[in-house]
Amino acid sequence: MKYVVVFYVMVGSVLALDNGLALTPPMGWLTWQRFRCITDCKKYPDECISETLIKRTADKMISDGYLAAGYNYVGIDDCWMEHDRDQEGRLVANGTRFPNGMKHIGDYLHNKGLKFFLYQDYGNKTCAGYPGVLGHEKTDIDSFVSWGVDYIKLDGCNVEVSKMDSGYPEFGKMMNESGRPMVYSCSWPAYQDKPDYESIQEHCNLWRNADDIQDSWSSLTSIMDWFAARPELASYAGPGHWNDPDMLLIGNFGLSVDQARVQMAVWSVLAAPLMMSVDLDTIRDEFKQILLNSKVIEVDQDELGKQGMRVWNKSKCEIWTRELSAGFAVAFVSRRDDGAPYTLRVTFEDMKIPKQNYIVQELFDQENIRNIRSDDERFETRVNPSGVKFYKFVPGQNNEIKRSAEVIYFLE
Ligand SMILES: *[C@@H]1O[C@H](CO)[C@@H](O)[C@H](O)[C@H]1NC(C)=O
Ligand SMILES: *[C@@H]1O[C@H](CO)[C@@H](O)[C@H](O)[C@H]1NC(C)=O
Ligand SMILES: *[C@@H]1O[C@H](CO)[C@@H](O)[C@H](O)[C@H]1NC(C)=O
Ligand SMILES: *[C@@H]1O[C@H](CO)[C@@H](O)[C@H](O)[C@H]1NC(C)=O
Repeated sequence: MKYVVVFYVMVGSVLALDNGLALTPPMGWLTWQRFRCITDCKKYPDECISETLIKRTADKMISDGYLAAGYNYVGIDDCWMEHDRDQEGRLVANGTRFPNGMKHIGDYLHNKGLKFFLYQDYGNKTCAGYPGVLGHEKTDIDSFVSWGVDYIKLDGCNVEVSKMDSGYPEFGKMMNESGRPMVYSCSWPAYQDKPDYESIQEHCNLWRNADDIQDSWSSLTSIMDWFAARPELASYAGPGHWNDPDMLLIGNFGLSVDQARVQMAVWSVLAAPLMMSVDLDTIRDEFKQILLNSKVIEVDQDELGKQGMRVWNKSKCEIWTRELSAGFAVAFVSRRDDGAPYTLRVTFEDMKIPKQNYIVQELFDQENIRNIRSDDERFETRVNPSGVKFYKFVPGQNNEIKRSAEVIYFLE
């Protein structure tokens, strides 16, 4: 009997959506944050939600190295549909902006080695007022399958919140029964005061926890504060099931280069999906380098899948720490606005990492590699106003590591 109980507890603690997908946080590109619901292609030909936008983005994902860096989903958020279903009750893509329909988009992406991410809404209507899936769930899933969709974001506008606890799992079950593996992103908790995260992590690959991100430092920091205030959320994240603090603002209008690095670092500590939402044809090189930083992406995609959190907050500076399969990622974020970079001198305890020898590398290449010893009293760093220093602490072998050996360790 005791044996059975132990077995049950073990199984219970790892109950999660078992579709083999999103074993690391999904990466890709999505229309909403940058392109919203722009539908006037006459006035804004380069920005309207259309086949043209998706194809030129897909081409850039390949030619500029985003796919090679791991960004493989290309997503169309709201505003892709006609206002009415067809005579068989099926969803129809806007005929002017998607003249070849959605299967054509799926084929185009798949031929380039990319995956197709599509938005819908659990309610009567999407947030922008297009038809939602409610009452047409099976028909719509059949359409997604026939178009080759690989990832569904299911929003929660225009449906009773009380219906979500049963509705999102039912839709997930129907997705599963379709036989096509599709990542399931649920906006379910974002609409609730007291989300049932046990159930959410069991039925969704990822979930939007809170409000939409906006293109500003204040929106970014308010999301950081939101997660910092809820450290318990980290326990629901793991391979196949992730919290989603929303899209990357990087490369758009609202963040400086330093602030963009803050988002990339904190999102990686949070094991967040990395969904870009930016015009890849016009993005400036310094932002592109942030999005393509392989050392930071490696932190986000760490196979242990353990979400980190804010562990320290003083003098308008913060430390965000994540345990990795080998070592720790530690981000020092400054939210100060007084001119010069600010010097921080902190202990192992402040960083919440074990006292031992480490080889320490700054992941945005702002510093040389350092050798830190277990008997060092303080770790010192200097952070730009509204900026970040982001380090990987890898345990060192012994106290006497030679300088050359230490460099080799990192280069291999
Ligand atoms: C389809 O897109 C065209 C061009 O952007 C627009 O004029 C039309 O109103 C759209 N139709 C719907 C139903 O959104
Ligand atoms: C959805 O539509 C049905 C039928 O028109 C209606 O009865 C129901 O109240 C609507 N639900 C919401 C949340 O608008
Ligand atoms: C459906 O669920 C089963 C059991 O959890 C899983 O093994 C299978 O891979 C899932 N299939 C799809 C298409 O999601
Ligand atoms: C940082 O910590 C201080 C003191 O512990 C607290 O008053 C403040 O609200 C915290 N800041 C944020 C943004 O959470």
